[in-house]
Amino acid sequence: MSLLIAVAGKGGVGKTTCSALLLRALLASGVRPLLAVDADPNANLHVLLGFPSPKGLGSVREELLEGPGGAASKEELLEAMVQQRVVEGNDVDLIAMGRGEGPGCYCFVNNLLRRSLSRLAGGYAAVVVDNEAGMEHLSRRNLRRIDHLVLVADPSPRGMSAACAIRDLAADLSLPVGKSWLLLNRPYSAGDGGDAPSLPFPLLAAIPHDPSLPAWEADGRSFLDLGDGSPAASCMAGAIRNLLAGKAR
Ligand SMILES: Nc1ncnc2c1ncn2[C@@H]1O[C@H](COP(=O)(O)OP(=O)(O)O)[C@@H](O)[C@H]1O
Ligand SMILES: [Mg+2]
Repeated sequence: MSLLIAVAGKGGVGKTTCSALLLRALLASGVRPLLAVDADPNANLHVLLGFPSPKGLGSVREELLEGPGGAASKEELLEAMVQQRVVEGNDVDLIAMGRGEGPGCYCFVNNLLRRSLSRLAGGYAAVVVDNEAGMEHLSRRNLRRIDHLVLVADPSPRGMSAACAIRDLAADLSLPVGKSWLLLNRPYSAGDGGDAPSLPFPLLAAIPHDPSLPAWEADGRSFLDLGDGSPAASCMAGAIRNLLAGKAR
């Protein structure tokens, strides 16, 4: 059974950066193969992984509804369309959700898509989902059970309340979330977790500001290849060991 980790948080807080670092950390812990799911319509996780631009899954809905055939052949067709959209890497593959649906009735296709995605996910040791701030894919339940919901936040009161709002949304939607974690990104101070008692849920890690990350990105290098010299990458490596062991820091 694969492990599903969903990364969420408000815009610009570092979700995509943390998703890429999580994938790297999982590999460093020997968890492979991995599936990266870019659930932001403005897909950009592929950039940090050094992958070509993916064709989003959003287009399968229209293509499938326009095409001929009965329900059975549509299911096969969709399976093939999903497979075609998987960008393959060495230990990490990537799929992008693409844009949301148009004004038509897509329940039938969405159900097929959901089944197909969970079959796809089942072939990996772990799946990391980089969500958009709006959480559309989470709220449409495009993903099955979420083992770990990682809420990325800055340590300000507004950052905390944004993280809590997402956790509450997940609860309101009765999303099957195993465990919610707070992942502080770029804490203002050294981030020693000293203020942990006031945090609303378990702290996974406090990822430091790491000036090597923008430089790495500008050079077009994959975050999967970051060395332990990167403070953010090595902090995340420790975090994932804790997550896999089920303990907060
Ligand atoms: N820990 C960090 N150290 C340095 N730069 C960071 C860090 N986290 C995020 N950034 C930078 O902040 C910007 C926004 O991050 P991003 O991951 O794209 O946020 P989001 O996906 O939440 O919109 C990017 O330019 C990224 O390089
Ligand atoms: Mg992003």
